[in-house]
Amino acid sequence: MMLRRPSPSRYVLPVFLACAALSGCGVAGETFPPEPDDWDKEVALPVAVDLNPDPRIVEIKIEARIGQAEFTPGVKTDVWTYNGTTPGPLIRAKVGDKLIVHFTNHLPEETTIHWHGLRLPNAMDGSESTQAPVAPGETFDYVFTFPDAGTFWYHPHIRSSEQVEKGLYGAIIVDDPEEPPFGHELVLVLDDILLDAEGALNPPEEETNLESYFGRQGNVLLVNGHASPKLQVRPGMPLRLRLIDAANARYFELGINGQHFDRIGGDGGLLEAPQALDTIVIAPGERADAVVTPAGDVGDQLVIKWLPFDRGSGTGLAEPRDLMRLDLAGEPVEEERPLPRHLRTIAPINTEAATEQQIQLTEEFPNGAAVMGINGHPFSETVPIEAWVGETQIWRVENTTMADHPFHLHGFRFQILDLDGEAPAYREWKDTFSVPAMKTARLAMTFDDRPGDWMFHCHILDHATLGMMGMLMVMK
Ligand code: C2O
Ligand code: CU
Repeated sequence: MMLRRPSPSRYVLPVFLACAALSGCGVAGETFPPEPDDWDKEVALPVAVDLNPDPRIVEIKIEARIGQAEFTPGVKTDVWTYNGTTPGPLIRAKVGDKLIVHFTNHLPEETTIHWHGLRLPNAMDGSESTQAPVAPGETFDYVFTFPDAGTFWYHPHIRSSEQVEKGLYGAIIVDDPEEPPFGHELVLVLDDILLDAEGALNPPEEETNLESYFGRQGNVLLVNGHASPKLQVRPGMPLRLRLIDAANARYFELGINGQHFDRIGGDGGLLEAPQALDTIVIAPGERADAVVTPAGDVGDQLVIKWLPFDRGSGTGLAEPRDLMRLDLAGEPVEEERPLPRHLRTIAPINTEAATEQQIQLTEEFPNGAAVMGINGHPFSETVPIEAWVGETQIWRVENTTMADHPFHLHGFRFQILDLDGEAPAYREWKDTFSVPAMKTARLAMTFDDRPGDWMFHCHILDHATLGMMGMLMVMK
């Protein structure tokens, strides 16, 4: 295989001039020459239809209802959907836009929508601590604005280990029009499902305590609801992957043989500088934003592989699997578009006057069955963490167990100060952070003026169900 040595860009200038003259620029990919026709048609997400003519308002309808998906060709599987598909529609907006969602529940049980990673008013958070569940046949309007650019997602917060597993989740992209274009964009929601021999979803409500303890992992890997999809991409053309891990328990460590990723962002928008990585890992609930520039010759096939990340519970013993294929096709792109060295500045949170909170992730086996908790308390006996509006806190999150737990806080973003005393190499905004087995992470956060009851939990959803969930009371 020949690696192309790209020469300096020849098309940047004319393209940017064209951009200035056109409206709608700033959408990722538009300043790059096109990919082959229908290049992403196997994975492209349906986009939510904006019913509001105001350019600063995105007003959409979302219905939760039972539907069908075809994970294996010719075999229909009953799933739970938003607007008929899993994943549900992609919600796309710009920073500062207002979102109005008219939500209707057509499921046979109650549900809510939680907006994962968004800094929104407490009443809009869609958790069991912020609203009455939406009963079958009922409606609820979610209304809030998007304060930050980034990759986010939405999913139910009632019986979430079952409802998300059945297919209820969708992606949210908040664009910052000031951001430079990084490449042709692919929003990829990753999941795994457990299908039986008939192609039916193994009922998550029948999961045993031991299965929940290990965290339910499926036998079919999905990218935007498709098993082993293929894409056509031009050699040398940068691709911006917006990755979301919507699985109940599976970590996705991704690698493409012989190629590297430049991670440019995470949960809460861009990093300060691109981070070159051979593989990229995301835990349930987490997101990554990464640029990959497929190198090779027309006709080559590159495989994005799922690699066995060891989160404990024997998960490191699995074999690598193919997740998705990139077929190199179309005119090779010879010009290189180097990434900006500096992406943005993120001021460190001032922790001089911070209050410290001790949060242990715990597990017990009182009658031979696993009960998980925060500081020894399952959610049913939660002792809330208290904070005041305007206060900065440091959460010392100590994982006392032998497996990793992706720790997620609703409504606020945090910075990682250190993991067992070691500061991370890159400063970024997080809302979900995988705390490795027997390690302690220190997270810094400032509570802005959004009082209320906010949840935090392990995003291995089976663990949240087993009790590893707590409450934060922000008071004013
Ligand atoms: Cu995606 Cu309570 O979380
Ligand atoms: Cu967990």
